[in-house]
This record gives sequence, structure tokens and C-alpha cells, in this order.
Amino acid sequence: MGDPRLLQRSVEVERFGTPELAALLQDMRDTMAHLNGAGLAAPQIGIGLRVVIFGVTANPRYPDAEEVPDTVLINPELAPLSDEIDEAWEGCLSVPGMRGLVPRWLRLRYAGFDERGQRFERTVQDFHARVVQHECDHLDGILYPMRIRDLAKFGFNDALFPGQDLPRED
Ligand code: NI
Repeated sequence: MGDPRLLQRSVEVERFGTPELAALLQDMRDTMAHLNGAGLAAPQIGIGLRVVIFGVTANPRYPDAEEVPDTVLINPELAPLSDEIDEAWEGCLSVPGMRGLVPRWLRLRYAGFDERGQRFERTVQDFHARVVQHECDHLDGILYPMRIRDLAKFGFNDALFPGQDLPRED
């Protein structure tokens, strides 16, 4: 947080299936795995392209965490499916060690392209919808603290959740 590259609007990918795109995605996967994240957007590694990855597999440490399929989403479009807003705690690999209570659309449809340029769309809700919104915000230069409605609900993990093993950041 504070790096100007995180505050810019990223640009659309125009060519798919290229070695450059494959290398970017490998770098993103390695970074996400190394930091044990739930998702990552290209601007978080300094690349201003509209590329995000995310995915959460079942983990016995977090029995309540919903699974999200491993996904590469390029040039995404998001559309809320209702007016319902849900508030939940989020973290971000670009804002390490902190959590904030963030409002998000509860249900949405998203569409975009995979790394081969194949278009797909999904209708999702709850945690899956939250992760997509968090990651796609990065492509528009928005970090989750900018969306917190009550800054009393923003702080350090150790202070907000002492002694707790927290779910992954994205
Ligand atoms: Ni993030």
C-alpha cells in the first residue's frame, strides 16, 4: 500500500496464449503460493494488466471457509445480481498484517477470459463473490481500506483477533 502502481487503472490484455502471459501467470501463481494467498492481481506484482487469479481449497484449519475453484480471470466484467450488500473481514497481501470490515455485493455474475482467450462466465455469491470483487478492485486502483465504511473496523490482526489463526489474505 502506498505504491502508485496499486492506484492506477490496469489495461486490458489484447493477446492470449503468448509466452509473456504464461510467464506473468506463473509469476503470479508462485507469488500467491509463496505468500499463502487466496488471490492475487497483476498490479500487486507491479504489472498493470487486467489479470487476476484466485482459488481456495478446503482446509481443515478453516472448516467454515468456502471453496473457490482455482481461476484465471482476464479482462473481467462484474455485474451485481441484487441490491444485497454483505459485510465481512478482508485482508490483502498488499496491506499485510491487517484486516478491515468491507461491504461487497452478495451475489454477482462475472465474465472474462482464461489464459487461452476462452470466454467464460459464472454466477456466484458469498465468499466467492467477495474474492472476485476484491481482486477486480485491484485492477481499478482500489484497495479494500478505501471501501471500509467504519474505520473503527480496520486494524492489525493481532489487535483485532488476538491468538486467532486467520484465513488467507488476498
Ligand atoms: Ni488484495
